[in-house]
Amino acid sequence: MLDYKNSKLIIDTGSLSGGSVSWHSPSNIAIVKYWGKHGRQLPRNPSISFTLDQAHTHTTVKYRARKGIGNDIQFRFFFDNLPKPEFEGKIRKFLESLVEIFPFLKQLDLDIYSSNSFPHSAGIASSASGMSALALCLCDLERTFFGTLSEEAAFLQKASYIARLGSGSACRSIYPTMALWGQTPALEHSSDLFAVPFVEALHPIFHDFHNDILIISKGAKSVSSRAGHQLMEDHIYAEDRYGQARQRMLRLLDAMKAGDLQDFGHICEQEALTLHALMMSSNTPFMLMEPNTIAAIRKVWEFRRLQHVPVYFTLDAGPNLHLLYPHRYAEQVGAFVTESLLPLCQDGQYIADRVGKGPVKMESAQ
Ligand code: PMV
Repeated sequence: MLDYKNSKLIIDTGSLSGGSVSWHSPSNIAIVKYWGKHGRQLPRNPSISFTLDQAHTHTTVKYRARKGIGNDIQFRFFFDNLPKPEFEGKIRKFLESLVEIFPFLKQLDLDIYSSNSFPHSAGIASSASGMSALALCLCDLERTFFGTLSEEAAFLQKASYIARLGSGSACRSIYPTMALWGQTPALEHSSDLFAVPFVEALHPIFHDFHNDILIISKGAKSVSSRAGHQLMEDHIYAEDRYGQARQRMLRLLDAMKAGDLQDFGHICEQEALTLHALMMSSNTPFMLMEPNTIAAIRKVWEFRRLQHVPVYFTLDAGPNLHLLYPHRYAEQVGAFVTESLLPLCQDGQYIADRVGKGPVKMESAQ
């Protein structure tokens, strides 16, 4: 079993001058969903997502040697350049969970600066982009101090592993185009511990797929995904669901290799509705869809039936609809979105996103 614990990663702080590392990391949208976990953030079933382009987090970690070595981790967190002590609890827990992997964290004084490309209140989950950006910065610190992780593949695998510990779905944001997380016989080297890229076998039609995010509601979610995962533990459909997700993964990968849009779209929409059906049928039921989510789904179905355009929807753990379609239909779908879907969005807001190239290291701080 892969274990990144390494007590040797201790810095000679006497010779350490301060510095910074900076990464820009995208959000992702799952097609087969991760919903249900066990142990230390391990998935109950494999999941796969498109890496996005426009929706991303930019994180800079500034470091200097700390005076003496403490038992805790010394850091401050800034969001959009303003101190955000209310976010520090989650980050502290995450960093403290990493001290056996990165023991040098206790030797440093850190300032963490983060900002999102999308409005904080847009109702878009930022944990995947935020946690992956931070994980990349931490692995970059290791590389800077110790010269380890010099091979790209090793660097990305560790970043994905670390991102997973912050937020499960974040481990998939490390790779361009598409990434798969969770062991499946459908993909060699797939693992529950980190995501792996799914790109070489992917049919070209998916490489420039669009993903329009329709902001149906900007409100904060009433139930966190953490609580949602928890509710799967005694869910009456849990075992059937995990089996179903494994089966759908096999079918989906076949469809995505073959460029079979119809089969892709069918599984994609089934997964979105299954996720929300699981929420509604848990022991403490909850509902994240809004009336306009359903109205928009009906519009998509009608448009597809009448226009024969392969446009499909998926949903995250929230009310906002993600529209997925090949680039060559962008004009037609754009007109449909403007005319029929934007009136259903809060303040007519949407983000025209598409499949992206993955995280980028930024050279200059901030
Ligand atoms: O990574 P978490 O714990 O926020 O869970 C995310 C779960 C979904 O977004 C609903 C599905 C997924 O696979 O991304």
